[in-house]
Amino acid sequence: MQRLIIKGKKKLKGKIKISGSKNATLPILAASILSNSSEIKNIPLVNDIFTMVKLLKFIGLKCILSKKKKTIKIFNKLTKSNKNIIAPYKLVKTMRAGVLVLGPILNKCGKAKVSLPGGCAIGSRPVDLHLMALKKLGAKIKIKNGYIHATALKGLKGTNIKFPFISVGATENAILAAFGAEGKTILNNCAIEPEIKDLVNYLNKLGGKINIKKRKITIRGVKETRKISYKVMFDRIELGTYLISAGTAGNEISFSNVDKKVINTEIKILKKIGVKVICKKNKITVIGNNKLKKVSIKTGPYPGFPTDLQAQIMVLMTQSEGTSKITETIFENRFMHVPELRRMGANIFIKNNHAYIKGPTKLSGAEVMATDLRASVSLVLAALLAENRTIINRIYHLDRGYQHLEKKLNNCRANIKRIN
Ligand code: EPZ
Repeated sequence: MQRLIIKGKKKLKGKIKISGSKNATLPILAASILSNSSEIKNIPLVNDIFTMVKLLKFIGLKCILSKKKKTIKIFNKLTKSNKNIIAPYKLVKTMRAGVLVLGPILNKCGKAKVSLPGGCAIGSRPVDLHLMALKKLGAKIKIKNGYIHATALKGLKGTNIKFPFISVGATENAILAAFGAEGKTILNNCAIEPEIKDLVNYLNKLGGKINIKKRKITIRGVKETRKISYKVMFDRIELGTYLISAGTAGNEISFSNVDKKVINTEIKILKKIGVKVICKKNKITVIGNNKLKKVSIKTGPYPGFPTDLQAQIMVLMTQSEGTSKITETIFENRFMHVPELRRMGANIFIKNNHAYIKGPTKLSGAEVMATDLRASVSLVLAALLAENRTIINRIYHLDRGYQHLEKKLNNCRANIKRIN
């Protein structure tokens, strides 16, 4: 099994090119089931995307992936006569976004059998809201042998749906199902993450008529789609991760081709901590500081502070003067990185969904274990700050969502080696 060996305390200086967004590419790939032919550009070369491509191929789509060009061309001949489409457990369990194919298959073929994703390290993550939305659109749903069996032989019908709370995946699945439904669907209390806007831009380019107004999304069903080429947005979580990595004294990293509007909340928090962030047109430069201040943050749906950057900002808080506080409101078990950070010397106390981080503390290298994607990258950030050597095990989590992580950081003078 591969692991990372990181020698800490190097000053980070240089430029990092941010990849395409994983969490935008995944629903867009699922959406490609609704088109006959489309090309998706700027895809990140990470394992979750490769798993989604495997799933699309399994379903019967032709996918041509060019790693060099970072594009996927998709050709799709699925029709109503394909009644035995299955999204199998072996693929959906490793990448929960697999459940997003449910709405599109149902639309295209009238029948779908998709594995329930099962548990996850960061929380139980049920899909009840996805199913509620599909039922309201007219699908008949049964759960049998760990699979969702959905049918809508006469097609889905537009309706009004109000989500009891905000879910990214349920909003996406509902949009994808409503895209081909007859008539108009209005979704209320939706997630409005930038990745959802990217999905809507892709669908509108295909020929869709989707409109987002605050947390209300209106979808007018369409039957015909155009052949298109679409460039996925940049990965705001990858950008946020590297912005945080440069927060301490002596570091300076720049990023081009990014849009600061998308990560306004994160920039505000970094500035409040004392990190210098300079934004010019589509370029951001971050300059670290040796006197960082405590802050309190609460994760929340966009435009709130993203849960996907909670573990990373916690590492920076270990270097702030005083006690910082994080309240995690999205997932019930997303403090798995804390015991590992404590082993590196962090002073963190957890009570319910609150973490109290006392700083500044000197971190020291240790052998640690990655538990999920963002927890893993937080250990990398901690290792960059720590004295001596850190060994990070189970880095397959990292490879699910960070393209060329060690290459990008080593180009900024970090010292990271991957060994078998
Ligand atoms: C998306 O997951 C992201 N994944 C996650 O990114 C991200 O952490 C999360 O949104 C929150 O921003 C992708 O985009 C592929 P949710 P998703 O539905 O859609 C509960 C990463 O590291 N819920 O918004 O699964 C759920 O358990 C990842 O890149 C239900 O109860 O998140 C959670 O507590 C991990 N029933 C909350 O809602 C449902 O039917 C929000 O989850 C659906 C969700």
